[in-house]
Amino acid sequence: MLDSNMKPTSRIAIVGVGQVGAAAAYALILSSIAGELLLVDVRVDWRDGQVRDLSDVAYGINSGTRVRAATHREASQCDVVVITAGSRWSIGETNIQHMHRNVSVMRSVIKAMTPFRSDAIVLVVSNPVDLLTSIAQELSGLPRFQIFGSGTFLDSVRLRGLVADKAQVAADAIHLSVVGIHGDSQVVAWSNATVNGVPLDKFLPPDASGFGHADLEDQCRFHAESIVQVKGSTPFGMGSAVASLCASVLLNRGDVRPVSYFQPDFGCCFSLPVVLGRKGIMRTIGMPLDDHEKAILSRSATKLRETMDRIKT
Ligand code: 2OP
Repeated sequence: MLDSNMKPTSRIAIVGVGQVGAAAAYALILSSIAGELLLVDVRVDWRDGQVRDLSDVAYGINSGTRVRAATHREASQCDVVVITAGSRWSIGETNIQHMHRNVSVMRSVIKAMTPFRSDAIVLVVSNPVDLLTSIAQELSGLPRFQIFGSGTFLDSVRLRGLVADKAQVAADAIHLSVVGIHGDSQVVAWSNATVNGVPLDKFLPPDASGFGHADLEDQCRFHAESIVQVKGSTPFGMGSAVASLCASVLLNRGDVRPVSYFQPDFGCCFSLPVVLGRKGIMRTIGMPLDDHEKAILSRSATKLRETMDRIKT
């Protein structure tokens, strides 16, 4: 995979190696961007099984990445720490119960890793991602630009794919972001959408060949749910999103990605596009939104802040 003169030296830790964590590890091994991949899980036998299975991949494709088991403390000293730890939703459990369970998992994971290496970059993937990123960044003691959540990055990839199919152009020619709170209240920034600089609505007028904003938004919003309903999680999509975000950071690429980060006006994290590089969030973009998009975003962020306040009390 890699020229032997170009051996990667960075270390990435994945905390929580269930379906999503293991798929992220698999995608990272294929991309060879890190020298070492440390796997952490409270289920030690499970973790060790994943290490052995994923090591077969690393040796099988001659990846520049080696896989090993690690503790939370070791993970906290890596260049990038990916947190996918959390429980799956179980039958009979309400969303609120599930949320509380994952909040307590996040608190204990961050506690076990604090203090982090001072320049560590933390990527939160566990759901509800905006709430858990907000909690992780409060507890981690790291500067705010070093901790962010996968947020609506994968939703943006999904929506670009849907629009690309309609417009019959390559997905990377489409500039379109899903922003806000990942899930039901996420917002599509249609007002900014372009195909290589040409406004999307001019390139592909709504309703031409069945193209409609509302319909695409619904398809994008329920895409994850339709996968979770049949297979419990979305490991491949999320795993590749994690590998892509880690590459943006470790290779200092300056990619513009919608990720979840602290928004001072609301006191919580949600997604807007930022520039990612070796120090994490290198700068924000200040993407302009129209009044409708701003109103939805502000309503859902206020709700998230209220939920956070309720959890604290
Ligand atoms: C996803 O969007 C479920 O958050 C997960 O794939």
